[in-house]
Amino acid sequence: MATKKEQLKKLNTEMLACSKCALRQGCTQVVPGAGSAEANILFIGEAPGKKEDETGEPFVGAAGKFLNEMLGTIKLKREDVYIANVCKCRPPENRDPLPKEVAACWPWLLAQIKTIQPKLIVTLGRHSMERFLPGFKISEVHGKALRKEIEGMGKANLPAGRQVFYTLYHPAAALYNGSMRETLIKDFKRIPKIIAKIEQEEIR
Ligand code: URA
Repeated sequence: MATKKEQLKKLNTEMLACSKCALRQGCTQVVPGAGSAEANILFIGEAPGKKEDETGEPFVGAAGKFLNEMLGTIKLKREDVYIANVCKCRPPENRDPLPKEVAACWPWLLAQIKTIQPKLIVTLGRHSMERFLPGFKISEVHGKALRKEIEGMGKANLPAGRQVFYTLYHPAAALYNGSMRETLIKDFKRIPKIIAKIEQEEIR
């Protein structure tokens, strides 16, 4: 049986060759994700931006720097978690990904989740939240942990039957918005407590 690291490596190689939607024609490269295959926490953003498209790494621009800083406040480094995006290719001019692009990329994200089996999925921003919690409002659900079944995954594959999600504002949106920034930092600092609650089976 291949290790999680080996499985992710194989998956990434397959992802790099993907051309299932039109985004691939307009971007420099596929940005599969980065971090530890053994991570407890999987952060999911929206899609690569300019810097990510250039480097092949998720969250390496200004929003990434802010994410790194917030990870530091809870004594984690990027290498301790896994960071991925709903869409693996940069949309032109950083526009929002189209529903058909999100749908084309979904099997890759699902395979990442199935491989890593994180204790906690942290969605970054509205687009990532909507992929898992459609109909929710980020202004109401941010900073709250909840369990939900992931479509296409089956309860049996999830650590406790249903996955725990924690919604955060997107670091890029919060970067230059004083009150959203404060809220994001406050919500972020609660992550260790959420993990502890999951381990103590306090989140139903
Ligand atoms: N914003 C995202 O949502 N993802 C990245 O990788 C970078 C910026």
